[in-house]
Amino acid sequence: MVKNQYPLPAVEDLQQLDTPSYLYNLTLLNDTLDGLQNLASQYGFEVHYAIKANANPVIMQTISKKGFGADCVSGGEIEAALASGFPAQKVVYAGVGKADHEINLGLDNDIFCFNVESLPELRIIDDLAKQKGKIAPIALRINPDVPAETHHYITTGLKENKFGINLDKLSEVLDVMRTLENIRFEGLHFHIGSQLLDMADFKGLCIRVNEIQKRFRDLRIFPKHLNLGGGLGINYRHPQEKPVADFENYFEVFHKYLDRHDQQTIHFELGRSIVGNCGFLLSKALYVKEGSVKQYAILDAGMTDLIRPALYQAYHKIENISSQAKAEKYDVVGPVCETSDCFAKEIYLNKVSRGDSIIIYSAGAYGEVMASRYNCRQLPKSYFFENGKIFE
Ligand code: LLP
Repeated sequence: MVKNQYPLPAVEDLQQLDTPSYLYNLTLLNDTLDGLQNLASQYGFEVHYAIKANANPVIMQTISKKGFGADCVSGGEIEAALASGFPAQKVVYAGVGKADHEINLGLDNDIFCFNVESLPELRIIDDLAKQKGKIAPIALRINPDVPAETHHYITTGLKENKFGINLDKLSEVLDVMRTLENIRFEGLHFHIGSQLLDMADFKGLCIRVNEIQKRFRDLRIFPKHLNLGGGLGINYRHPQEKPVADFENYFEVFHKYLDRHDQQTIHFELGRSIVGNCGFLLSKALYVKEGSVKQYAILDAGMTDLIRPALYQAYHKIENISSQAKAEKYDVVGPVCETSDCFAKEIYLNKVSRGDSIIIYSAGAYGEVMASRYNCRQLPKSYFFENGKIFE
């Protein structure tokens, strides 16, 4: 039996909280951040937190206070990052569809870098920078056409995905880039997918990046930085035994296989691996319903609070923390009018009764931030706990 280093607050305390709600373990988040920062600095790597994973202000402030940068994919995220204390000089901005007002926001705040995903975007950034009399720092986001073992909705680095500049378009982009006067080429950006646990995928990325860098060197273009994106996965099956992601092996792969040139800085954009296991979705059982072939545990939380199971058939560990009674088999569903509003099918939970607290693990990444008001439901509240104390 592996010792759980990060226990949840007492059940009696959790039962007092409003549900559905998110509960964040700040002790685990702080330990994760310290471990990550420590490792990154050993290798001289720079980490930008991917705001898209969780934009809760308390979570963002906790991360910015530790000195991390931010990875943004919209003007809204840039604003949220700045408001939470991330310095503009550590903000990277990617996205296939940057609107003019979003580019202007990045220019006005002098962000670190625009990760450019297409030739038309490059021209618009140059144009908008010219109108402001500025030079925009840019990295080219290259679609490396490297496969990654994950759900097909969250692979990004294949040539058929919409992201990045395809390798066969690169020469044309470089030809145009040379003619643009209001951009400054800073680096290269890559991201192959999310929830990746096989380090061979990242090794594949390193090998491809080395080839691409050689192509740039042959043209006498020298990227000052390389941004390898995010994607490191977490352990959804055993979140208590392995609450912290495997940053060690992840960084080791890049250290070992990536050709790094003098003075080049190496950047990462990690989201899920930082916040995923720090968050829990807390709910109460409303009803236990006997169907003709199944038994349903109907929760007050639904797909509007955590959409990952409905959207990606994602597994999240679920427990009934109120009951010690013998486990029974349930489909665990929410109240939303969609058949896909189902957290898990045919799983065993300690016998559920109305009012029991049901906890869904590993909901810190792409949970609260993807919540919606579908069915005119309220957005979930959030609570935090640190050293055994719960606060709002
Ligand atoms: N950088 C870029 C360019 C990205 O597109 C992403 C995630 C990240 C960094 C952060 O990746 P992470 O370290 O979190 O894997 N909603 C989905 C995940 C979508 C990921 C989108 N891009 C889910 O719930 O699994």
